[in-house]
Amino acid sequence: MRAHVITYGCQMNEYDTHTILSELVAGGHEIVTSPHDAELMVLNTCAVRGKPVEKVVTLLGELRKEKQRRPLAVALMGCLAQLEEGQALAKKFAVDILIGPGAITDILPAIEALETQGRYTSLAFKGDLLTHIPPAPATLTGFLTIMRGCNHRCTYCIVPTSRGPEVSRPVEAILNEAEAMRSAGVQEIYLLGQNVNSYGLGLPGYPSFAELLKLVAATGIPRVKFTTSHPMNFTSDIIDAIAETPNVCDFIHLPVQSGSDRVLRRMAREYRRERYLAIIAEIKAKLPEAVLSTDIMVGFPGETEEDFQATLSLYDEVQFDSAYMFIYSARPGTPSYQHFTDLPKAIKTERLQRLIERQKYWSQQRNQRWVGRELRVLLKQPSDDGGYNVGHSDQNHTVLVPNEQVTGVGLYPVVIEQATPHALYGSVVSAERQRLPLLMAS
Ligand code: 5AD
Ligand code: SF4
Repeated sequence: MRAHVITYGCQMNEYDTHTILSELVAGGHEIVTSPHDAELMVLNTCAVRGKPVEKVVTLLGELRKEKQRRPLAVALMGCLAQLEEGQALAKKFAVDILIGPGAITDILPAIEALETQGRYTSLAFKGDLLTHIPPAPATLTGFLTIMRGCNHRCTYCIVPTSRGPEVSRPVEAILNEAEAMRSAGVQEIYLLGQNVNSYGLGLPGYPSFAELLKLVAATGIPRVKFTTSHPMNFTSDIIDAIAETPNVCDFIHLPVQSGSDRVLRRMAREYRRERYLAIIAEIKAKLPEAVLSTDIMVGFPGETEEDFQATLSLYDEVQFDSAYMFIYSARPGTPSYQHFTDLPKAIKTERLQRLIERQKYWSQQRNQRWVGRELRVLLKQPSDDGGYNVGHSDQNHTVLVPNEQVTGVGLYPVVIEQATPHALYGSVVSAERQRLPLLMAS
């Protein structure tokens, strides 16, 4: 079949799409870039907030009409497919294949079944995803899943329902995949999981996350980054592993969600503000150059102006380099949807605006301190207007340099000349003046 795959949501979903694509190709199907050429449309969906769900609903409506005009099969995959919400949508929009995130390798049997039995549904959490190693991507940055699912029960979050309980991949599968990526020329690996720090927790024979970091770094990949972390599992040995291992980047994404203990309690986040700040203090003491980012939610049910002020003051104390900021979205199937009343939209959007202002202020301050200094930048592609080449520093800043200074993709020493809240601008340093060693995987 000619297949077209559309991905919504997080990096975990992008990784899963990579697996889906490689399964389709292995099964002899053709991947097409235009949906108009497709006989099979695969939607790898996200359900974490209402917006991505609305997008899928709109598209399913269009595809239902398209199906009346020509032969076309539709596969609803990913987080939304796993939920009652997705199952109802599948019925309403005559979806042919419904596969949850734990069963994506069922795409080939699903296509075969279409011919014999019509509709196909698989919502299992299958073990084969833990040992499955998709072919290495032909990109500079590659994702590598180390664990799936989540055992936390944040009251706003649908992920534990859609992705199921935590399971860790065997270390051999992870290291083999890292090695395959290194040999394919991948320069930067993102270790992925809903909660990477609890990798192997309580499982005999599994390394801890800190040990795993060192093992992956030992494959010789120039850069290792990871996401997402949970403050409850962010132990000192992880900070030490980052400090001791040069190719594990000084970039830490540690979602805080709120600066108010009252809200954190209602969210069932197991830590409190003081604990979070203590982890940040330890990171800053051991990794003075570390870049810090976070996830913050505004407008959680019952959040008062005082609670929101606590979030702003936490932001000022930590001085995050960047943040993903979200308006609380009530998701059917979550405890907060069931038990709490949503705040008026106007209050939520106004708080988001104020938070964005604070974020811009600190991002500018934090970025400014790099002006005049050298960073190691993985330059990846020309900017949309073609004038610059864009890449990321070891610490994950977005860095732009004039295109004419770049002879090809790869790692470059760059001296920073200008900073904005969102990016750094600089020039490539000549080989004689360069101070940072450049390690490339070949
Ligand atoms: N509404 C808004 N944001 C949410 N997130 C998770 N669930 C919701 C929700 N219901 C955010 C959290 C999480 C990030 C991936 O998405 O901040 O860290
Ligand atoms: Fe959702 Fe909380 Fe698990 Fe993150 S830690 S995936 S926010 S339940």
